[in-house]
Amino acid sequence: MLITIEEAAKKLLKGEVIAVPTETVYGLAGALSHENAIEKIFALKGRPPSNPLIIHVASIEGVFPFVKEFPAGFADLAKAFWPGPLTLILPVNELAVPKKARAGLPTAGFRIPGDPVAHSLLKLTGPLVMPSANLSGKPSATALGHIERDFGKDFPALAGGGSCQGLESTIAISIDGIWHIIRLGAIPREAFVSIIGYMPELSIAPKGEKPLCPGQMFRHYAPKAILNLVKIVPTDMQGAIVGFSDRKYPSNVHLFSLGSSKAPEEVAANLYNILRKLDDCAVEQAYVDCDFPNDGLWVTIAERLCRAAQQ
Ligand code: TXA
Ligand code: MG
Repeated sequence: MLITIEEAAKKLLKGEVIAVPTETVYGLAGALSHENAIEKIFALKGRPPSNPLIIHVASIEGVFPFVKEFPAGFADLAKAFWPGPLTLILPVNELAVPKKARAGLPTAGFRIPGDPVAHSLLKLTGPLVMPSANLSGKPSATALGHIERDFGKDFPALAGGGSCQGLESTIAISIDGIWHIIRLGAIPREAFVSIIGYMPELSIAPKGEKPLCPGQMFRHYAPKAILNLVKIVPTDMQGAIVGFSDRKYPSNVHLFSLGSSKAPEEVAANLYNILRKLDDCAVEQAYVDCDFPNDGLWVTIAERLCRAAQQ
C-alpha cells in the first residue's frame, strides 16, 4: 500500500516499519532509535540475529555521532560515492548504536542513499536501519509487487521513489589501512582506483570460511528452481532458460529474458524480478546463460547468480 512521505515519516517516528525504495533495492526501514522497530525488522524478514543491519543517514555529518574513528580514505570515498550505493563499515562507539542493529559487532555499516525521495525521508526521520526488503534468503525486492508478495498487499511502502537499479550497495571496510570489498555491489571494484589509488582487495570468503560480511554466510537471492549456470546452453535442453533478448536459444524452451547481453545495467535491473518470476511460474529447473564479460557490473551479476544457484 503506497503512502506519502509525510505518512512514512510519521510511522517511522512512531516505531513502525515500512518499505522504502532506494536507488539499489527496496529497504525495510525502521528508526535506529526504536528498538521495537529493529526487532520487528528481524522478525518480518526471518533474519538471523547474527546478520547486522545497515544504518542509512542523510549526510556525512550524520555518521559522526556513531563513529569511533575514521579510517584513511573515508572522506574521499564518502565524497566520491555518497549519496549512492556504497556502504562503509566503520568502528562505532558501542553505546551509540543499538547492539541488535550491529549484531553485537564493534562496527556498523553506513550509507547515504541516492534516491531523492529516500534521502528526503531521512532528513525528516533521522537515521534509519534498512536491510533489503525481502524474506531472508530470497531475492531482494526491486518493485512494489515484490513487497506485496513478501509482506502482503497492505504493507506500507513509500511512494514516489525512482526505480531501483537492481543490485545492492557495494560494501567496503578498511583493515590495517587497506580497503577491502566484502560484498560486491552496484559500484564496480574498478571505480575505487581513482579515489583511493589502488584496487581494493576482494575479501569475499570462499565456502566454509567465516566471511567479513556476516550476510555472506547465509543462503541468498535464491529461487526454488535448480539453476544450472552455463557458458553454452545445451541444444537438447528442456525447460526454462534465463538468458538474453539478443541471443538465439532452442525454440522449445521458455525464455526468461534478463534484457540485452550488451547492457549490464538493464540486466541488473531485471535480475531479481526474473529470479522471483521463476518461482511465480513454478519453474523447477533452469539453465542460466552466463556467457558475459568478467568486468564492471557483470562481476556482481555473476556473483549473485552463483549464490542464487547454491542449493
Ligand atoms: O543497497 C543496499 O545496501 C540495501 C538498501 C536497502 O540500502 N540494503 C541491504 O541491506 O542490502 P542487507 O541487510 O540486505 O545487506 C546488508 C549486508 C548484510 O550482508 C550484512 O551482513 C552486512 O551488510 N553488514 C551490515 N553491517 C555489517 C558490519 N558491521 N560488518 C560487516 N558486514 C555488515
Ligand atoms: Mg539483503
